[in-house]
Amino acid sequence: MNAIIGIDLGTSTTEAAIYRNGEKKLILNPDGVVITPSAVGIDESGNWVIGDRARSQYLLRPENTAIEVKRKTGTSERVSLGNARYSPVELQAKLLSYVRSYASEYLGENVERAVISVPAYFNEIQRRETVLAGEQAGFTVERILNEPTAAALSYGLEHMEEESHVLVYDLGGGTFDVTLLEMFEGVLEVKASGGDNRLGGKDFDERLMDDLIRRFQDRYGRNLRKDRRAMAQLKEEAEKCKMSLSEAEAYHILVPAICVINGKPVELDETITREQFEKMTGDLMERTHEPIDRVLSDAGISDEELDLVILVGGSTRMPMVARDLQDYLGKAASVAVHPEYAVAEGAAIQAAMISGEIDPSDGLIMTDVNPYTLGVRTDDDGRGDHMSVVIPRNVTIPTTRTERYHTSGDYQTEILIEVYQGESMIATHNHLLGQFHIRDVPPKRAGEEKLDISFSYDLNGMLKVSAKLLSTGAEKGIEIDMTREHMAEPDLSKWKEAEGAKAWRTAIRTAERILTKEDEVSDDLKEDIRTALDELKTALITGDAISEEEAGEWLRELLEEARNKR
Ligand SMILES: Nc1ncnc2c1ncn2[C@@H]1O[C@H](COP(=O)(O)OP(=O)(O)OP(=O)(O)O)[C@@H](O)[C@H]1O
Ligand SMILES: [Mg+2]
Repeated sequence: MNAIIGIDLGTSTTEAAIYRNGEKKLILNPDGVVITPSAVGIDESGNWVIGDRARSQYLLRPENTAIEVKRKTGTSERVSLGNARYSPVELQAKLLSYVRSYASEYLGENVERAVISVPAYFNEIQRRETVLAGEQAGFTVERILNEPTAAALSYGLEHMEEESHVLVYDLGGGTFDVTLLEMFEGVLEVKASGGDNRLGGKDFDERLMDDLIRRFQDRYGRNLRKDRRAMAQLKEEAEKCKMSLSEAEAYHILVPAICVINGKPVELDETITREQFEKMTGDLMERTHEPIDRVLSDAGISDEELDLVILVGGSTRMPMVARDLQDYLGKAASVAVHPEYAVAEGAAIQAAMISGEIDPSDGLIMTDVNPYTLGVRTDDDGRGDHMSVVIPRNVTIPTTRTERYHTSGDYQTEILIEVYQGESMIATHNHLLGQFHIRDVPPKRAGEEKLDISFSYDLNGMLKVSAKLLSTGAEKGIEIDMTREHMAEPDLSKWKEAEGAKAWRTAIRTAERILTKEDEVSDDLKEDIRTALDELKTALITGDAISEEEAGEWLRELLEEARNKR
């Protein structure tokens, strides 16, 4: 048999599963457990260590261990292990090859095919790098599947007959994903998907770490940030504390020797209550609201029409998550799936649909959405740099859409078609996927020659773009494999630019903090801050770089003013 396994390659943890004989089956690692820490390191003898052993060595030898590599996927960042530097792809490949080896062992056959899940909000570069990591690990990557879609599949397989609108809320270690699905007579349709690539359990840990560092600095005048080993211990303790606070009201942190001051080991001895923890992370919870709103509005669904909220991801074990959703959506969240296993199980179900293990005629049909807007560059802005949308974001795929265009120059004899992906109205701020020419266009006045451009996007991530000149019937097109093409030279520059926008996040957080404080700044100033904040957020969502710059600067000035008034 030629098994295809499903892999949830998470920021913090990795799981694998297979669907066989009508059942979901989780694959155990050599330690006999399902959950493998997503950690990779090099031990003292220079051998690779992966998973639990890497996670354990992180405490003692953080400089030789990499954790949370997934967050670096799609960036040009390198991770240092000892003296060597590795790309995120290389390290993810190590992790995946570990999965491949223990899955082969567990199943008693050589496993070579996999479906790997990624956050719905991963862009093309991040998806391609995930495929590349899988290939370097010796897998044929059959499909890249969106994590929330996978979670929904895991739920949907057993609840096929129900008719409902389901919101999948996945707060994992590094990413937040939210997806709205409609289930109807065995058809599972993804209506909209959104999220935040940079929000997860890790950020909650970091808030605790910040607090502990501050406390330590106040007490001993020593900044622990400069001490890599102390930081690794703090991280470990912070995560332990966070997890305990999901059950207990308070947690006592005691590290006998966090560092050495004047030749003496100094202990870290602090108590943190759940209330304090929730206060210091309240703004992180709030950051989940905007993606939820956007997904509901993209799907055209109101809060009342929601039938079910499914919680996925280890971070949803924090009690404030369910409470926040109850407050925000007026819905109790369901515990219908296993928060840590559902994504791998769903990937396994998808794998079984590919291998034929699940017969498509059995009833389960799945559709997905394209997470980013697709379009072509036109002259509609008068500057030749307009993003003309052909397939909008969050449209159900498979889909085919056709738009009619015309020539923009007098007597032009060729037309260049450039295909872009992204949310900016300015085409070149988006990611160029491919381009081609239609030649031998009869020379006419601008606007007289017309052409139809069609985009077809299928579930395998193939985008077919074709253009047909109406007057002569001449037709040309390209196929873009959204998961594999352009592997050699990903255009990282635009992505990096978008990263620049993240700098505004700090300003946004500061602004939100100021707005919640009662009397430190005047109402007028608060109102201005609120307006600037809204404008900046809108610009960040729409990808409008010019208003982003303006609103960002304005907000910064207002924050400066607020600071001076204090
Ligand atoms: N009981 C708990 N209380 C609070 N947080 C928890 C608990 N258990 C696990 N977590 C957190 O859940 C996160 C890991 O969740 P999960 O394994 O779902 O993430 P992941 O799939 O690795 O990440 P992602 O989906 O973001 O790539 C970690 O940040 C971990 O600290
Ligand atoms: Mg996950």
